[in-house]
Amino acid sequence: MVVLTTQKATDKSVLTQNSETKQHNRSVAVIVQLDSVSKTYANGCHALVNINLEVQKGEFLFITGPSGSGKSTLLKLLYGDESPTQGDVIVNECNVAALRGDRLSFFRRRIGVVFQDYKLISRRTVAENVSVVLKAQGYTRQEIQRRLEPSLKLVGLLSKAECFPEYLSGGEQQRVGIARAIVGTPPILLADEPTGNLDPDNSWQVIQIFQKLNSFGVTVIVTTHDEQLVRRCNHPVVQMREWRLERKS
Ligand SMILES: Nc1ncnc2c1ncn2[C@@H]1O[C@H](COP(=O)(O)OP(=O)(O)OP(=O)(O)O)[C@@H](O)[C@H]1O
Ligand SMILES: [Mg+2]
Repeated sequence: MVVLTTQKATDKSVLTQNSETKQHNRSVAVIVQLDSVSKTYANGCHALVNINLEVQKGEFLFITGPSGSGKSTLLKLLYGDESPTQGDVIVNECNVAALRGDRLSFFRRRIGVVFQDYKLISRRTVAENVSVVLKAQGYTRQEIQRRLEPSLKLVGLLSKAECFPEYLSGGEQQRVGIARAIVGTPPILLADEPTGNLDPDNSWQVIQIFQKLNSFGVTVIVTTHDEQLVRRCNHPVVQMREWRLERKS
């Protein structure tokens, strides 16, 4: 269950239901927690104001909202690409803003991220694009192969493993991006406008892959402008408006 709290989630009254056991169980089940989080960029631009949000393990959450309302910034805080100006961001039981160097790199390995513009390496094949992270982490060729196949299979691209991105459709490129995000089997997948460049059929295909991953237990958080897509799914939705979060459903 997504919880949009109006007070700090560390307050006992919010975290507990009058029992220490329940508090423990709940904190174990929470995979993302934002407590009074604000973000103002160095140029003075506000991006987030007093955000309180809890996402439980295994949830599928949509974040919608107009352009400039702070959706990408929120996701960037979750994978440690930006730091909050105020408040705490806890993901996978780590206080993200406190992580540096190797600890931050290790933390990021446990987060899958999918981008609107795919961010594939054009001179590398599909297989190389997907395995690039595993290679950087020092996995053996055998281990890479063992992980690569199921990831490509899941996104329906096993037969395109040796293709270069320029020979793929937008939908296929995005599916490579998803395979790359999940090849390290992260418990959480963040997708920032993953269907922003895709037609309705390809968008639906991407969402169905996310739903399959979610059925395996992966927590999925997706930002989108696509109201139709959101309506087609039966997942919780929160809406950002002028850098603040509102519950939608
Ligand atoms: N690196 C940055 N430096 C300064 N301001 C930024 C930076 N990134 C974003 N902003 C500002 O922060 C606010 C929130 O931006 P953000 O990209 O999070 O919005 P968004 O909801 O993802 O928008 P979109 O739907 O267009 O992707 C905007 O006013 C934006 O101009
Ligand atoms: Mg954005």
